[in-house]
Parts: sequence; structure tokens; C-alpha cells
Amino acid sequence: MSNTDPSSGKTPARPTLKAVRGTRDLLPAETPLWNHVEATARAVFARYGFGEIRTPIFEDTSLFARGVGEETDIVSKEMFTWEDRARAASEKAQQLTLRPENTAGVVRAAIEHKLIETGALQKLYYIGPQFRRERPQKGRYRQFWQIGAEVLGAPSSGAESPLRDAEILEMLAAYLNELGVRDWKLELNSVGSADDRARYNAALREALQPVKHLMCEDNQRRAETNPLRVLDSKDEADQAIIDALPKIADFLSPDSRAHFDAVLAALDACSVAYTLNPRLVRGLDYYTRTTFEFTVTTGLGTQNALLGGGRYDGLSEMLGGPRAPGIGFAIGEDRLILTLQAQEELGAPSSTGSFTAGQGGVGGTKKLDAYIAPLSPAQNPAALALAKELRAAGLTVEVGEGSFKLRKSFDIADSLARHILLLGEDELATDTVTVKTFATGEQSKVERTALIAALRP
Ligand code: HAM
Repeated sequence: MSNTDPSSGKTPARPTLKAVRGTRDLLPAETPLWNHVEATARAVFARYGFGEIRTPIFEDTSLFARGVGEETDIVSKEMFTWEDRARAASEKAQQLTLRPENTAGVVRAAIEHKLIETGALQKLYYIGPQFRRERPQKGRYRQFWQIGAEVLGAPSSGAESPLRDAEILEMLAAYLNELGVRDWKLELNSVGSADDRARYNAALREALQPVKHLMCEDNQRRAETNPLRVLDSKDEADQAIIDALPKIADFLSPDSRAHFDAVLAALDACSVAYTLNPRLVRGLDYYTRTTFEFTVTTGLGTQNALLGGGRYDGLSEMLGGPRAPGIGFAIGEDRLILTLQAQEELGAPSSTGSFTAGQGGVGGTKKLDAYIAPLSPAQNPAALALAKELRAAGLTVEVGEGSFKLRKSFDIADSLARHILLLGEDELATDTVTVKTFATGEQSKVERTALIAALRP
């Protein structure tokens, strides 16, 4: 078969392929900041006693249906789900889903590996991609990254203590401050126990009954299926009605109230500032008691939630596990990066510094120690061997190509590295290398034995 067009005799251009809508590539100019954000998370979380967990990227669909909730936007509209065909007649086909979030997966893993039965408090963190079929826009992607953590355990482990809620929030404040994120705001609420929520839901349904026909289509549907979701509607015209609805605070049992008050007292003791937001119910069904979001005003536009989380005291049981109260959060890593980049652009000093995108090149903006330029193709093998030796000594090195003109080698070297190392016949014969330091313009022949020391920053 030939692809040649018989009329012109030319091969037609093939259409170029692009990353799928809502997904994106992170290029070397950007990844140093991602790595910095992740390394800082690992360092901060370790100080609070968290260990890393890595769960599969796809799971049985029923995990999310049961855990996150059938009526949520995530499960009802946004999941990437497929049927995995059975290979043998004896095997049943399975419904699988790319994880839209990681809390359900972590709790499943904790149950499966009997971590709850150990009786010890489990402090687990994760960093990885999640998938939701949302309408893509700035700060909202179909594949996005989360940095999250979960604290859970048997009731005897103290997992239910309000101290755990406050510790998580204080850790988040410490993390954002360490990264240099400015002007973040912590919004906090309690959605009560499952019983409190049931009573509140009934009251909401009743209050919505006479007014729901005045609301937008989405809210009319929510008023029927999941009245709590009406509370986080952004529909302008419906705000007056929503503001007049009953407040969850009036439906908290004395236990839930005392738990929330204890969270607030511990936050006050650690000087973590917060704003109470009675409408913060969050979009996942597993939440009980404390819920929270951190928002920022720069860089994210309407998608201003940098992270969200809360307590999920009944989730383990919903997944068939033992009682295991828990609390956790997930940071939208894409949004955190956008925020840091926007704050940097506004000239605010933050810790991103050299991590933000610059000239690109190998490894972002940080210059390599050396660029080796073989003066002809005959010196290519020796250049590669020299690069191997220098890299083994811990130096960062790029190696050029002997067919390049000297001018070209110098231009590339100047953009990438602090030194250019010229390697020709003469240098090889005398066991030397000609080294030019761009910062000073100095050039000299250096003995091979003295080279590593001469190149060290
Ligand atoms: P969530 O609020 O659905 O919670 O997501 C947490 C964060 O992930 C959001 O605040 C946002 O920053 C980011 N995010 C969500 N969807 C997108 C998207 N399409 N594009 C970019 N970023 C996005 C959860 O996922 C819960 N599992 C959090 C949790 C952990 N609760 C308890 N433990």
C-alpha cells in the first residue's frame, strides 16, 4: 500500500496529533517548579509523621460510586469509565474507572491491607494524577495532579480527635507558607454527623419546596436529588434564595458542635487564621463534620479553590471496612503552580525563585557546569568518555557534536553552561582540555587531573 498522491506524486502531510483536550504536557522549563513543590510537600509531611502511599490509577467503578456518591457531579457526569472485557468465558467483565480522586482508593487500600486493624493511627500522603471529564479552563483540566494526605484509624487510635483536624490544617498552613504562597484564606465549616446531615437535608428540601421553581435548572434538579449541593451553587440569580436557607450550624448535635469548637480552639492555639463559611458543604458525599477549603485571590480566576478536604468518619464502613474515622485533603497541584507563577509575575518574593520558567534548555534555568565541544567528529568518542567521567564526579554536563562549527558550539555552550570545554587532537595528545569560563571570559588549558576541581561551582 502506498500513501503517494497519484496526481502530484507527493506524500500527503499527515495531520499532526495533539494532547487530548483537557490534558497537557509539562516541559523541562516548568518541571523544576513542580519538583520543588513536591519535594517541599514530602519534606513538610515527613515532619508531621506521614508516609507515602501509591494506589492504582484505575479502580473498580463501584469504589467511587459507593465512596464518592452516585449523586455527585463527579460520579454522575465526570468519570472516565470503561468496561474491561473478560478474557475467558469464566471471567466476568469489569467496570473500571480512572480515579477522579484518591481518598476512596486510600481507604480501600487501608481496608485491604488491614491497616486499621493494627490499631495505629495511619498518616498517608500521595502525589499523582486524577481524572475528571470537566469542561477545561484555566486551573481546570481533565487530567490534573493532586498532592493529598489522609489520617485515619480505628477509633482507639485517636483518629476522631479534633486535634487531628487542627493538625492537618496547621500543616497545610505551614506548607503553603514554606512555599511562599501569599494571601491564602482558610474557609471552614462543619457539615455535622451523618444524622445531623440527614436532618439538615430534610429541612433544606422543605425550605426549597416553595422556591425551587424560581431557581436555575441545575438547582431545581439538586433540590430534588441532593439539596446540599444547592449551597455551593454559583448562580448569581439564586444567591438571595440560597442565603435565606436554613444553616447547617443550627442542625449540629451537641457532639458535633463540641467537636467543631475543639477544632477551632486548637487552631486558635496554633494561630492559624480561618473564616467560617456555613455554605461550604463540598462536592463529595463522604464528608462528615469538619470541611474546609483554602482559596487564593491571584492566578486562578474563578477556579480559586487551591485545595479542599474534610472528615469522612463513615467512609470505611461504606466501603465494607471496619469503623475508621478519618480526615484528609487534596491540593490541586496545577492550581498551586499557577498561583506561584502568578505571584512571582506580580513581583512578590516567594520561594519559587530560580524554579520558574526561563530560557528553558536542559534542566530549566540552572546552568550546567560544562559543555564539551569535540572539535571534529573524530573526537566524539573521547568527548563522550570525558562527559562520563565528569558526570560520575557529580558535575552537570552536556556534550556537543564534532561536526558543529566552533561558533555554533560556543553559542549553545553559552546558553546552557558556565564553561565550554574544547577537545581537539592537540588536547587529546597532551592530556589537557581547553576551558573557557563565560562569566569572566578567561580561557586556558587545564590538565585533565585538575579539571574536575576547576569546574566545581
Ligand atoms: P476536591 O475538592 O474534589 O476534593 O479536589 C481537591 C482539589 O483538587 C480542588 O480544590 C482543586 O484544587 C483540585 N481539582 C479538582 N478538580 C480539578 C480539575 N479538574 N483540574 C484541576 N484541579 C482540580 C477531593 O478530591 C478530595 N479527595 C479531597 C479529600 C481528601 N478529602 C478528604 N481527603
